[in-house]
Amino acid sequence: MARTKTSKAWMRRHVSDVYVKRAREQGYRSRAAFKLLEIAKRDHLLKPGMTVIDLGTAPGGWAQVTARMVGPRGAVVAVDLGDIAPIPGVAFVRGDFRDERVRGELERALAGRRVDLVLSDMSPNLSGVASVDQARGCELAGLALEFAEKHLKPQGNFLVKVFQGAGFESFLKVMRARFRQVVTRKPVASRAQSSEIYLLGKGLARGAGARS
Ligand SMILES: C[S@@+](CC[C@H](N)C(=O)[O-])C[C@H]1O[C@@H](n2cnc3c(N)ncnc32)[C@H](O)[C@@H]1O
Repeated sequence: MARTKTSKAWMRRHVSDVYVKRAREQGYRSRAAFKLLEIAKRDHLLKPGMTVIDLGTAPGGWAQVTARMVGPRGAVVAVDLGDIAPIPGVAFVRGDFRDERVRGELERALAGRRVDLVLSDMSPNLSGVASVDQARGCELAGLALEFAEKHLKPQGNFLVKVFQGAGFESFLKVMRARFRQVVTRKPVASRAQSSEIYLLGKGLARGAGARS
């Protein structure tokens, strides 16, 4: 298939991207790894022995960072629509997180453990219609929040990618009601022209979370 001007421009930007080069040098599968490394360092998110859920894991940069930092006493359970090459220490579920059965599989992989950190870097497959893509992004973030509330330890954290636009303010409002503190993060590795931003909810608010 002939390459369009835009895809050529994307490829040029991609290969000259400093984070793409760094990821290759350091053995990370994606430049996204550097976003998590920056946020995790600043907010002290990852510690040995933690149980972590990684939503939208492919190709696996965040999972690599997470598995390394939680170490052999920790556990990482990850999900994606697409397959990934295995990562030691990561239990991978392939499927659509919107599907209740897939969420059930994640729950089974947790085997009753409460979670210290839920990560969601899910981005919807783009339709090209901005309003549709924005709504899909909001749906994924909403489902990730629901899952986090259900499985986090009371002092657990939730890091989620959201896209600024319709629905962003109301999602932020819900996050503020569910967590003791909510901060926004735009890591240096996140492209300035992208509307993506990360919300970090720290510690479930009183009354939020699983009732069991
Ligand atoms: C930006 S990538 C994640 C990059 C990853 N954090 C890394 O470090 O390599 C977004 C991922 O979200 C996944 N995704 C989108 N919708 C999903 C869904 N409904 N269920 C599971 N994964 C989904 C996509 O397949 C894609 O791999």
